[in-house]
Amino acid sequence: MASLTCISNRCFSHSFSPIRVHYAHSLRTAPPRAMAKPGFSPAKDQVASPGDFEFVPPLKILEYPDPKLRARNKRIVTFDDSLNKLVHEMFDVMYKTDGIGLSAPQVGINLRLMVFNPVGERGEGEEIVLVNPRVSKYSKKLTLFNEGCLSFPGINADVKRPESVKIDAYDVNGKRFSVNLSDLPARIFQHEFDHLQGILFFERMNEEVLDSIRGQLQALETKYEGMTGLPSPENIGNHRRRKVAVGFGKL
Ligand code: CO
Repeated sequence: MASLTCISNRCFSHSFSPIRVHYAHSLRTAPPRAMAKPGFSPAKDQVASPGDFEFVPPLKILEYPDPKLRARNKRIVTFDDSLNKLVHEMFDVMYKTDGIGLSAPQVGINLRLMVFNPVGERGEGEEIVLVNPRVSKYSKKLTLFNEGCLSFPGINADVKRPESVKIDAYDVNGKRFSVNLSDLPARIFQHEFDHLQGILFFERMNEEVLDSIRGQLQALETKYEGMTGLPSPENIGNHRRRKVAVGFGKL
C-alpha cells in the first residue's frame, strides 16, 4: 500500500519518536542488506511508453504477495497529462487509505514514481512528487522506526534505516532537483524508494522482528491464493527454510 507506502498515517503519527542508533565504526553509506547502491544508475532501466501509464480509475492498492510489487519499474521520460493524471489519482487513493506515501507499483503501475505528504491530509502539509528518484548519499546514523505499508494491511514493525538521505529526482514537470531529507520525510522516501527497487519492508527487518510478523505474512499469502486461485508467488516460510539451509551448508 503505499503508505509510507505504505507507511500508514496512523502508524507514523503515533510513533514518531525514532530511536537513534550510532555506528561509530561504520564506513558504509548504506545499510548492508538489500539496499541499492548510492547513485543507482537508471541507465539500465527500461524506458516507459505511453501504454505504461494506462489505468482504469479508481486505482486500487495491491497487497503482498502480488507479483507487481516485485516487477521492474520503468523510467519516466515523458512529462505530460498522463503523468499528471496518474499522480492525481495516486494522491487520491493515498489519502483515502490514510497513507502518507505511495509508490506507483503499489497501484499496479510499474513506473519509477512516488508521491508523499508527511501530514497525510489533503490540503495540509506538502505534496511531494518524485519521478525517477536516486539516492546520492545516506547518513551513517541509523534510526529505528515502526513502519506500516499499505500493501501489508494491519502489519506494523520496526525497521532500521539511515536517518537522512540526499536525493535527486525530477518533479512532475520534468525539472530535475536535489534535496536533503531527514526524519519522517527521509523515512517515507526510503520506504517508497525500496518499492521502486522491488524491495519490501519486511526484508529490512531483523530476524526477531520478522519472526513476529511471519504469521501475518503467511495470512496475506493465503488470502492472495484464495482471491486469485493462484499459488502465492513467494512464501515467507520458504524464505526461512532457505536461510536455514544456507546455515547448514556453511557448517
Ligand atoms: Co510500502
